[in-house]
Amino acid sequence: MSISLKSILVTGGAGFIGSNFIRLFLRKHKDVEVINLDKLTYAGNLESLSQKGQSGQSVDSNPMYHFYKGDISDSSFVSRLFHEWHFDAVINFAAESHVDRSILGPRTFIETNVLGTMTLLEVAREFGIEKFLQISTDEVYGSLGATGKFTETTHLSPNSPYSSSKASADMLARAWLKTFNVPTMITRCSNNYGPFQFPEKFIPLMIINALQNKEVPVYGDGENVRDWIFVEDHCEAIEDVLFNGKIGEVYNVGASNEIRNIQLAKLVLSKMGRSESLLKFVKDRPGHDRRYAMDSSKIEIDLRWKPLRSFEQGIDETIKWYIDHEGWWKRIISGEYQNYYKLQYEGR
Ligand code: NAD
Ligand code: DAU
Repeated sequence: MSISLKSILVTGGAGFIGSNFIRLFLRKHKDVEVINLDKLTYAGNLESLSQKGQSGQSVDSNPMYHFYKGDISDSSFVSRLFHEWHFDAVINFAAESHVDRSILGPRTFIETNVLGTMTLLEVAREFGIEKFLQISTDEVYGSLGATGKFTETTHLSPNSPYSSSKASADMLARAWLKTFNVPTMITRCSNNYGPFQFPEKFIPLMIINALQNKEVPVYGDGENVRDWIFVEDHCEAIEDVLFNGKIGEVYNVGASNEIRNIQLAKLVLSKMGRSESLLKFVKDRPGHDRRYAMDSSKIEIDLRWKPLRSFEQGIDETIKWYIDHEGWWKRIISGEYQNYYKLQYEGR
């Protein structure tokens, strides 16, 4: 069912995928008010919305864009926003998103990813909306062996505190539709990369470490496989599901770019003209999922979505972006990130 929208609530819009989504959405939809609700945790960065995009305009100078600092778990705050804006749709990006941090401290993952999602669903139920899109992940399916791909009917088998909190949120979205008629849909995407990704994640971490001639940590034997998608391709899929997705459906999103971590690390170093001697094998992540691979045929057939960037193009563009935006990541790594990096990598 295609819908027409006057205002949408985007949660977590100061994060990596949310900020890319808002930029893309405002470029394509000039008459929809976009309200960004973000708590501005360590991962939220308003600078990601103040940088000029392709149009030469920054998101935060667009009159159709509005920012509110707040927590998705705060029901009175969320209710006030719904009261003020009468949203037609909600896209819930807000989450604690990093697997390693969920191992160091799982509580906030449950608070935001589970209780926060329930709070949004409850308020959406009270006010009524046309669509509630829960942004989920392939990690809810667990880990694959050497062959096969995740489909929308694969059993959920999350293995980390992060993925179990995301799987819980998916179950809540399902239950709030079945029980209370909240019109939910779910997208589950594979590993994203691209501009504005927080440098705790593998690809930006490798790029900024290589730029500083620092070691690149590879977990375990480096043979784990991830299936990479350029962030804008994911955002286009979300837009398609928002307008044309069917209530109650789950859509897998991926770009069929499976690569072993060690192979990826060598590729990034060679593209950057750095020596493989920067590679350092470190202690593995506990419960480290071995392989992810997405079957996206449902969204490709039903909504005619397909990824537009080849991995080669996307990775070149991403490396160039981090080289050209040194100020953006240098301001991040001079803050709280330093403590995290020490805690995460010391003794590994
Ligand atoms: P991110 O960590 O870069 O951004 C998360 C954003 O949510 C931040 O701006 C943060 O401030 C905000 N936030 C956190 N807690 C909040 C709260 N309680 N209330 C309001 N805002 C809060 O994450 P990302 O990589 O952009 O991921 C966005 C979504 O996409 C997440 O739901 C994640 O599970 C999902 N996802 C990510 C990937 C990936 O590869 N990064 C892949 C598939 C799905
Ligand atoms: O698959 C989707 C998921 O992708 C999202 O749901 C998560 O929010 C997102 O963080 C990401 O999770 P991963 O754990 O797969 O991403 P990360 O970038 O942390 O790690 C990618 C792979 O690289 C993984 O196998 C672990 C490995 N790795 C990671 C880091 C940070 C390393 O070998 N060294 C590192 O320093």
